[in-house]
Amino acid sequence: MGLCIVILAAGKGTRMYSDKPKVLHTLAGKSLLEHVCQTAMGLSHRDVYVVYGHGGDQVPNALQNFQVNWVEQEEQLGTGHAVQQVLPDIPDVDNVLILYGDVPLITEESLKTLVDAASTTGFSLLTTHVEDPHGYGRIIRDEDSKIVAIVEEKDATEEQKRIFEINTGFMVVKAELLKLWVNALSNNNKQDEYYLTDIVSKAVADDVNITPVLAESNIEVKGINNRSQLAEAERYFQLVQAHHLMYRGVGLCDPARFDLRGELEIGRDNEIDINVVIEGRVKLGNNVTIGANCYIKDTIIADNVNVLANTMIDNAVIGDGCNIGPFARIRPNTTLDEDVHIGNFVELKKTDIGKGSKINHLSYLGDTHIGTETNIGAGTITCNYDGANKHQTIIGDKVFVGSDVQLIAPVKVHDGATIAAGTTVTKDVAENELAISRSEQKSIPKWKRPSKN
Ligand code: UD1
Ligand code: CA
Repeated sequence: MGLCIVILAAGKGTRMYSDKPKVLHTLAGKSLLEHVCQTAMGLSHRDVYVVYGHGGDQVPNALQNFQVNWVEQEEQLGTGHAVQQVLPDIPDVDNVLILYGDVPLITEESLKTLVDAASTTGFSLLTTHVEDPHGYGRIIRDEDSKIVAIVEEKDATEEQKRIFEINTGFMVVKAELLKLWVNALSNNNKQDEYYLTDIVSKAVADDVNITPVLAESNIEVKGINNRSQLAEAERYFQLVQAHHLMYRGVGLCDPARFDLRGELEIGRDNEIDINVVIEGRVKLGNNVTIGANCYIKDTIIADNVNVLANTMIDNAVIGDGCNIGPFARIRPNTTLDEDVHIGNFVELKKTDIGKGSKINHLSYLGDTHIGTETNIGAGTITCNYDGANKHQTIIGDKVFVGSDVQLIAPVKVHDGATIAAGTTVTKDVAENELAISRSEQKSIPKWKRPSKN
């Protein structure tokens, strides 16, 4: 007997008012459905099935990395009908765990408890008590406290609406029984839908006891139906991640103003100021400080690095002891060796810079290699693009580039060369040479400035 996991993700998500299928909206940088799939993968299982429909191939295309079986529900006729699409593929002896593409915070622990609970009766159901049960299916129990039915909000009597125990939707049912009951569902209700929840009364009629499991927390069973609930889930998830990082030693100035949309690997004694966003896979060494309002994506940062406020780093490797920012922009495929200084309003793209080199102000370097201990003056621009192709600029060791220099690529400046301020470099510069291109200064004495009429 194995476990088959069925994830329901065919619904429209009307209340998001979005052209994107609801389950593809993101929480902490990952789609809602990715969160659910990832949780499912953590459970030992035989197969995972995802029922998709609304949005067509967009949903399977967005989750190609997951080893799941995609089953299309052409018309969304209800949760019972959605499950029915998968059942022919599932062996009778297996247990079936039902998950929801729009309930992303469910934990592996709760699901394991639910799976274990099904082993006695063949049917376990996750419920919880909430202060505001509006919109949820209500759990109906008899005088012995046995679960006998689930009634949907729209079909509930006034008395039933005052029940605070709700159906989270999560359940585990033996496949043989599930097939029997799902195939007998009718859509005789206010929404003309085949409700999966109606299998509860069918189980009772067949004398199958339902083992209730109480959810660990209400937050993990919260469904995302609108953008307000999505934002609420995001904040909750971010806070959990932030506290997790702090428990492992990261200094966060304010856990409420830190966002991690991916994976952060950490060393010791890292300090992160407010409004920092980390995306993708980021690795920090020891003793790294990140100033306020920085955005760092898919980057490796070594030890003793200072990233000053308002810096953006995307897809870069930053060496030991570097100083970056404030207001620097490091674009993809940039590598900084040890002790490199990158100052304000410097943009780097596809550039590697050797140990101890400095670019402290207002420059753009693209498709460039720079050696060690080279100084690039303010306002230096590599003209790397001729309108059709990109070209390389190579600058050697111990080069001094004065301010306001344009390097017309492809061009090479060899070790020890000096480029005078204001020069437009169009030819290679040899070792230890001075290159200067400037129009000569004229002086006109006693010059009268024009005056206002
Ligand atoms: C459902 C339950 C309700 C429970 C609540 C918990 C039913 C009838 N009701 O209500 O008891 O309290 O979840 O969150 O099951 N879906 C499909 N195909 C369909 C319809 C829905 O795949 O034809 C998917 C949706 O994409 C969604 C999930 O099933 O992921 C739940 O559907 P939704 O319409 O949101 O059900 P609720 O009204 O929330
Ligand atoms: Ca829902």
